[in-house]
Amino acid sequence: MLFKPTILPWALALGTAQVASAPTNKVPPRYSGEAQKLADPRYGPIPGQSDLYSYYWGTDRPFPGNISDPVFPTQDGPPGVDDLIWQNLLSAEWLIFEFYQQGIEAFTARDFVAAGMPNTTYRRLMEIRNNEAGHLRIFQNQISPTSIKPGRCKYSFPFTEPLGYLALMTVLEISSMAFLTGLVQQPRLNFNKGAMLAIAEVETRHEAWALVDIWKANPFGGPSDTIFPYADEILDSTNAFIVPGSCPPENPEFPHARQRLPALSAGQDTVSLTPGSNITLHFPDPRNQPFFNESVQYYAVFYHGISSISVPIETLFWPRQAICVTIPSKFETKGVIIALVADRRGAPTKESVIAGPAVILEQPSRLATSVLHGKAG
Ligand SMILES: *[C@@H]1O[C@H](CO)[C@@H](O)[C@H](O)[C@H]1NC(C)=O
Ligand SMILES: *[C@@H]1O[C@H](CO)[C@@H](O)[C@H](O)[C@H]1NC(C)=O
Ligand SMILES: *[C@@H]1O[C@H](CO)[C@@H](O)[C@H](O)[C@H]1NC(C)=O
Ligand SMILES: *[C@@H]1O[C@H](CO)[C@@H](O)[C@H](O)[C@H]1NC(C)=O
Repeated sequence: MLFKPTILPWALALGTAQVASAPTNKVPPRYSGEAQKLADPRYGPIPGQSDLYSYYWGTDRPFPGNISDPVFPTQDGPPGVDDLIWQNLLSAEWLIFEFYQQGIEAFTARDFVAAGMPNTTYRRLMEIRNNEAGHLRIFQNQISPTSIKPGRCKYSFPFTEPLGYLALMTVLEISSMAFLTGLVQQPRLNFNKGAMLAIAEVETRHEAWALVDIWKANPFGGPSDTIFPYADEILDSTNAFIVPGSCPPENPEFPHARQRLPALSAGQDTVSLTPGSNITLHFPDPRNQPFFNESVQYYAVFYHGISSISVPIETLFWPRQAICVTIPSKFETKGVIIALVADRRGAPTKESVIAGPAVILEQPSRLATSVLHGKAG
């Protein structure tokens, strides 16, 4: 066996490993071929065995974030059973890694102190950035040699100052925690489910740090974080941060089986996003608006903890009249609430979702409305 099945279970799924032929002729000439070294999981620092993924204090991108090209297949044959899921996750990870890398480049340790944050903030952000580099490498290695490993795109995040950056970070981390509860339901191999849970736990530690040190809030999120079943819909919403046309053209569609649902948010008149608040539903992308069939009853479906609550909505007079809905007052003001619009109560299938999802931060709840209005603090 070329690879150790204990860390690379797809090798088991493929049966006897084929001889790696490293067909460099598959690499389009515009690429240097440097990224092909990454096809070997033993190349470079190994996550869990190297301290690069914790204690690297440089501002340049750490390995493998410093190698942006896609990694082309080195073997012929069918894809591994969970390759699509890992490809989705790797593409999402490039975005998260770059969010931290951009923060490291945009700010200094003093900027965060000047904004009233602890003097450890910048180093913690570097450590999180390093963890995310480790995720890049783990996900690359979990994609089998018969499938492409997506490369880096260009990303644009709406932050200008340290507090706004940290607020967006808090939303991204809790969104990661939520979408992983859905993604973990997709792999065929149990090992991969365990690996995704382990990644979600790391995102949770990042979030808990931000709650304690940055927002001076209670770090606990109630008895259960929020399960959201349609992970790819959350991933799809992150396309808003990708500079159009900037991805390597060989990258697979992100996320695979993209629904391109209209984005959903609360209206700009929103004063509170806590349970019991009345909000209007806003579809911010003018080029992608929902269609409401007048003979269908639509619902706003809210997810929190392990349950969801569906609230019928009046769509007949939209867009002349805004769609108003009350965030279920039964929910605890903890963690996150995820909302979407569906054409069936409970949004029982991915296809029943017609807009959203929107991730509504509840902790600290004051941040949710400030993120909505594009400012923090
Ligand atoms: C990326 O980082 C690794 C490890 O530090 C280094 O060996 C490699 O040369 C770097 N590659 C590029 C393209 O910067
Ligand atoms: C960072 O802050 C802590 C606690 O406020 C303080 O004890 C420590 O001296 C500070 N360190 C630096 C390098 O400023
Ligand atoms: C929200 O709207 C409902 C129904 O229109 C109303 O009964 C309730 O008082 C409103 N709640 C708030 C907090 O405005
Ligand atoms: C609206 O829904 C009705 C009932 O489900 C269906 O028969 C009709 O084709 C739908 N109209 C459109 C334009 O989708």
